[in-house]
Amino acid sequence: MTLIQDLEARLANAFQSVLGETVSAPVVAAADLRFGDYQSNAAMALAKQRKTNPRALAEQVIAALDLADLGTADIAGPGFINFKLAPSSFAARAKEQLADPRLGVPEAAEKKTIVLDFSAPNVAKPMHIGHIRSTIIGDALSRIARFLGHHVITDNHIGDWGTQFGMVTWAWKQGLNEQALLENPLQELLRLYRHASDSSKADESIREACRQELVKLQQGDEENFAIWQRCIELSRAGLDKIYDRLDVSFDHWLGESAYNDALAPLVERLQADGIARESEGALCIFSNGEPADQAKDPFLIRKDGEWTDFPMIIRKSDGAFNYATTDIATVEFRRKEWKADAAWYVVDHRQSQHFHQLFSVAARLGYGEMDLRHISFGTILGTDGKPLKTRAGDLPQLDDVLDEAVVAAASAVAERSRVETEEDRKALAELIGISAVKFTELSHHRLSDYVFDLNKMLALQGDTAPYLQYSVVRCRSIFRKLEQAVDLSTVTPLLVEDAEIHLARFLARYGEVVPTLLDDHRPNLLANYLLELARAYHSFNEACPVLKAEEPLRNSRLLLCELTSRVLVHGLGLLGIRCPDQM
Ligand code: ARG
Repeated sequence: MTLIQDLEARLANAFQSVLGETVSAPVVAAADLRFGDYQSNAAMALAKQRKTNPRALAEQVIAALDLADLGTADIAGPGFINFKLAPSSFAARAKEQLADPRLGVPEAAEKKTIVLDFSAPNVAKPMHIGHIRSTIIGDALSRIARFLGHHVITDNHIGDWGTQFGMVTWAWKQGLNEQALLENPLQELLRLYRHASDSSKADESIREACRQELVKLQQGDEENFAIWQRCIELSRAGLDKIYDRLDVSFDHWLGESAYNDALAPLVERLQADGIARESEGALCIFSNGEPADQAKDPFLIRKDGEWTDFPMIIRKSDGAFNYATTDIATVEFRRKEWKADAAWYVVDHRQSQHFHQLFSVAARLGYGEMDLRHISFGTILGTDGKPLKTRAGDLPQLDDVLDEAVVAAASAVAERSRVETEEDRKALAELIGISAVKFTELSHHRLSDYVFDLNKMLALQGDTAPYLQYSVVRCRSIFRKLEQAVDLSTVTPLLVEDAEIHLARFLARYGEVVPTLLDDHRPNLLANYLLELARAYHSFNEACPVLKAEEPLRNSRLLLCELTSRVLVHGLGLLGIRCPDQM
């Protein structure tokens, strides 16, 4: 049981005896430690419902509250109940956490089957910067959800059936560079795509030729299908390399093409059920008047001061199906085949209208019970404050961004590292560079834009992955100096100094923070928790000698070091970040 759960149970009992009925009385960690460790505003909320005086209610509740030797409670302001815990409570909690492989994190009460749809680049098209965010956030969310006990299915819904294939096929036939394709497939496919894209901009007939190649592919033309298959295989190999570097993996790669056969019958059904109708040659889904607030209706847009239809097109006038059609089929598949309770789409904010429409259509198809969610995110900016671009003005590719980070990490490692062999240094630079990119991503609120600044993200003293990794190495180094191994399982910590009480206070919060991360899909709450924990550890380290302390303080402090390193390593693991043995 976490300290919050313990306090909530005791508080609910006290309310029960005062009010004569069962109520829920939420407790949260206090934002300002001057007021205590935990806080509840339940008395205020409950008094408001009952139109009584909140302070008077809080007083009665405190009088009825049995905290045993957990700590004390008092009232603040209009009726807040503040809890101050005894150091022995944190000590007992630390001992429990150390004995628990879950480090005190409870599993979710209700376990769900959750599909996480993330990364999903468009094959043969430049992987845009948004895919970096999607890949890293999606992977972290999947690790967190799994750890909380959910059945998680990760699915890389790659764009492998769209217009870009018409272009690549056209350019492929014009002149493929076989050698380049073998050496760096993603690069060669990108070159072909750009060649076709530039040529079709300049020449209408080339655009038409590209379209024809796509139609041929989708109609099963053998030559085009063979080209497509090779493109997919090679891209897949190129993408796998990137995902390996990032330590990201997927249970499935069901891209757009996987749903090809489902599209025609689906569209027929949508039409027969009156969900879709023809309009100007295309088959479209229009607003059904829900929600009543037009500003929130995803099938309407504001044009010249009027609400105008903005339908979802599911079959274009030339007969082709599109992204939207595939996505509807995908929801259906995930529900029927995987029995998914939830599907979370980690995709950049520009697709928000698409997902609103998709979820509305899913509800009309009878999937309203599903937790369908667009986990949106902002933009990565360059140091000039504008969306990050390469020197040539293109969107940077993920691999290049990682390379750049690793080169920067290598020079930082060369300056300060104790690692000796060249090979180990290289591996360390790779680990640190990539961790730094990941952590920077995960420490920002996903909806805010952030500046991609390698100097900042690699700083050893900063809100960075290297800072946390270094904290772990430092924490572990104490154990290397021990002459004899200590059995910490029998140790009950003795917390005396403020710095050690504070460290134990933060350790206890681990089990309280992790279960909240999926409420609003915010891994940054974990990233920030880990930074605070590391800061508490460094203050402890300055204030409290460990190996030089006398018993029982020495073992007590060793226990805090052990638990701190375990929580840091585990928490970073949930973010998809590993720790080196040495730095
Ligand atoms: N391929 C899309 C893109 O690059 C993202 C796909 C996201 N997933 C989905 N089911 N729509 O923008």
